[in-house]
Amino acid sequence: MSDSNPKKIILPYLLEAIDLYKNYKTAEQVLHILSGASLKLKAGEMLGIIGASGVGKSTLLHVLGGLDLPETGQVLFHGEDICSKENTYLENFRNQRVGFVFQFFNLLSDFTALENAMFPALISRVDKREARELAEELLVQVGLKDRLNHKPSQLSGGESQRVALARSFINKPDLILADEPTGNLDQKASDSLIELIQSLNHKLQQTVVIVTHSQRVASKMNRIVELVDGVINPVEKGVFI
Ligand SMILES: Nc1ncnc2c1ncn2[C@@H]1O[C@H](COP(=O)(O)OP(=O)(O)O)[C@@H](O)[C@H]1O
Ligand SMILES: [Mg+2]
Repeated sequence: MSDSNPKKIILPYLLEAIDLYKNYKTAEQVLHILSGASLKLKAGEMLGIIGASGVGKSTLLHVLGGLDLPETGQVLFHGEDICSKENTYLENFRNQRVGFVFQFFNLLSDFTALENAMFPALISRVDKREARELAEELLVQVGLKDRLNHKPSQLSGGESQRVALARSFINKPDLILADEPTGNLDQKASDSLIELIQSLNHKLQQTVVIVTHSQRVASKMNRIVELVDGVINPVEKGVFI
């Protein structure tokens, strides 16, 4: 095999978490949050993660997205362990390969919807005009054509989350990690956000992981798992719903 024509290896999983352990140490105690959590995620999947409040769902999502490191275990992304990489790799990984959506939107209050959506592209040094065009295109796709210059305080919860969604997609990441993205939305806004995520997932082929309390939201995912006692168990959709 010549170097100019390397055989492409197609890996079965986009992301593989193997035997993750994660503790939090406080003055009085050690909290064992992840205790051998493992997960395999295929490209293009929409996975729902459920679990009781305080069980460690956000912690898990942060570890999967390189925002936090486990004590032991691996997170293989395209077959490479992100946990063993240095900070600059992780910064790039978080900026370019993963898009994050949070329950409280995490928009910058002094900036417009357009500027917020452009932000990750500017960090990855995309030309400003191109970033603006990309952001505008995404904001139109999420139904915010007439809100480009609104600041977060001038947007509803549903609109704010759609800005956050546009922002999460702007660098064309392989993976979208959403932590209770509908937690602050009413049912109508929640349904419309999930429909948008589904249509973007379909159109742009991103893999999506959504942590949710809502059975309604979870039922719309391809697959559901539950975090319980530090490990990840499959959930039969029919049984759960
Ligand atoms: N930085 C931290 N230091 C100590 N304890 C923490 C920290 N972050 C989270 N915890 C605790 O770990 C547990 C899991 O938190 P979290 O992952 O946010 O759960 P969930 O998202 O499922 O509600 C909770 O009991 C929380 O109080
Ligand atoms: Mg949480």
